[in-house]
Amino acid sequence: MHSSSLLRILTLLGMFAAFLLPATSAEASAPLRTHAAARSKFIGAALATSPLSNETSYRNIAATEFNQVTAENVMKWDTVQPSQGQFNFSGADAIVNFATQNNQQVHGHTLVWHSQTPGWVQGLSASAMRTAMQNHISQLVGRYASNATVVSWDVVNEIFDDNGGWRSSFWYNTLGQSFVADAFRAARAADPNARLCINDYNVEGINAKSTAMYNLVSSLRQQGVPVDCVGFQGHLAIQYGFPSDIQQNMQRFADLGVQVRVTELDVRMQMPRSSSKDTTQATYYRNVINACNAVTACAGVTIWGFTDKYSWVPDTFSGEGAALIYDENYQQKPSYTAVHDALAGGTTTDTTPPTAPGTPASSNVTSNSATLTWTASTDSGGSGLAGYNVYREQGTTDTQLGQSTTNSINLTGLTPSTQYQVYVRARDGAGNLSANSALATFTTQSGPVGGGCTAVGTVQNQWGNGYVVQPVTVTNSGSSAITGWTVTFTLPAGHTLAGSWNATLTVSGQTVTARNAGYNGNLAPSGSTTFGFQVTRPSGNTQTPSGYTCA
Ligand code: XIL
Repeated sequence: MHSSSLLRILTLLGMFAAFLLPATSAEASAPLRTHAAARSKFIGAALATSPLSNETSYRNIAATEFNQVTAENVMKWDTVQPSQGQFNFSGADAIVNFATQNNQQVHGHTLVWHSQTPGWVQGLSASAMRTAMQNHISQLVGRYASNATVVSWDVVNEIFDDNGGWRSSFWYNTLGQSFVADAFRAARAADPNARLCINDYNVEGINAKSTAMYNLVSSLRQQGVPVDCVGFQGHLAIQYGFPSDIQQNMQRFADLGVQVRVTELDVRMQMPRSSSKDTTQATYYRNVINACNAVTACAGVTIWGFTDKYSWVPDTFSGEGAALIYDENYQQKPSYTAVHDALAGGTTTDTTPPTAPGTPASSNVTSNSATLTWTASTDSGGSGLAGYNVYREQGTTDTQLGQSTTNSINLTGLTPSTQYQVYVRARDGAGNLSANSALATFTTQSGPVGGGCTAVGTVQNQWGNGYVVQPVTVTNSGSSAITGWTVTFTLPAGHTLAGSWNATLTVSGQTVTARNAGYNGNLAPSGSTTFGFQVTRPSGNTQTPSGYTCA
């Protein structure tokens, strides 16, 4: 047979086969970048230059799985301009060339940072430092301005401290806040088409630091400073919990008109690795991708490396590691599958609901609150247990009283002297709901006649040596309006207050007294308001405050 006829028949057979196969099965095995591109998002990786030039497996995965790359180190100041006026672009060029060859975009990292910046910069006078900063930006950004591969830059990196104050860096200490606007303006001048980002860590959830970033971005944009994009680094750890409001946080930045992105995702664990830690890690990766998928203004997610063979984690966080999606032997881990399936969207079909929770037991019943605790459900469908919904049985239209990620909940805002019949259902990651638990019944106490209030604090986010309590919900449990409230609680030994919002906090010993701010003291009966605070604690300590009382 003539070879071109054979080719035509094979092509037709191929089309026929493609037609018979469900569309997803051909796609399902596609690399991450194919699925990301189908959503008009990027999936990126930070690359190290040495394995990139020396290891075929590293190079192949970097090229085939990702459509965006970031230089892990070689675009930083200490590599690019180690001494004044001496520029070294060889590493940066290698990354840009690799990306160009593989049809990838480059995110430039980073222009102005307190770390990995040579001593000669740090010792300059204010005017010389400003000039050096502008020159560095102009040279580095300018070099790739006409290169379509380099599309965005981290202009300033890590300018906040964990309490939401300005980091006391040589930049801030020498130039004040103005270095930020100057850096963005210099970058815009050097490349009018590049997307310009502010980048930081511990800003994935809503907390004092991300709120400071939010306020700064909002104010810079009002002043016409060209901030186009906000980067959430995403250095997470399974032992500190997932920032469950990441999507909400991204969305509030998006609503300012900026693009958002996750720039340095990794999810570390205390070593040794185990299959249950791998499973938890996979849910973190999946949740981050899902959050970005759900926010239109989220451009994509970059992972800080891809193989555990080359990761900054073991060198930086003692005893921790295995933070990436491939192991040291370039084998895909459960976190790879999680990223893949979240990008592919809906290719995992978990239709098996979790088992029904145990009968809830009530405790600490007051006039307007109660604690329920039940035996946990299990989930075997693959998507994993996501949490519980708690309902009040009311005949035809039951109301949901709350949600919890653990097998316990504090119900607040209940009506005094009222009988409640409640039940719990478990949820899995695919949204399947379990059968109802058995009913539990409790009756709230009679309410105070006059004023009266309650306070319940929720730990929102915690990390090595600190945490955020948000919200502390203050509720008027009485039958008449109150015009001010005072909440007290106890900090564990060694914990110190690092910041607060929506209340005025004073500390005496370990007792904290929180008084309403000017705008949230008035509460109608059953009305509530919230405040929040941040605490620093000794590394390794996992305690949180207790004994919230309101008067
Ligand atoms: C890290 C690199 O991964 C390491 O190789 C290097 O020794 C130190 O810097 N936040 C950032 C990144 O913005 O630049 C850091 O990268 C990780 C934390």
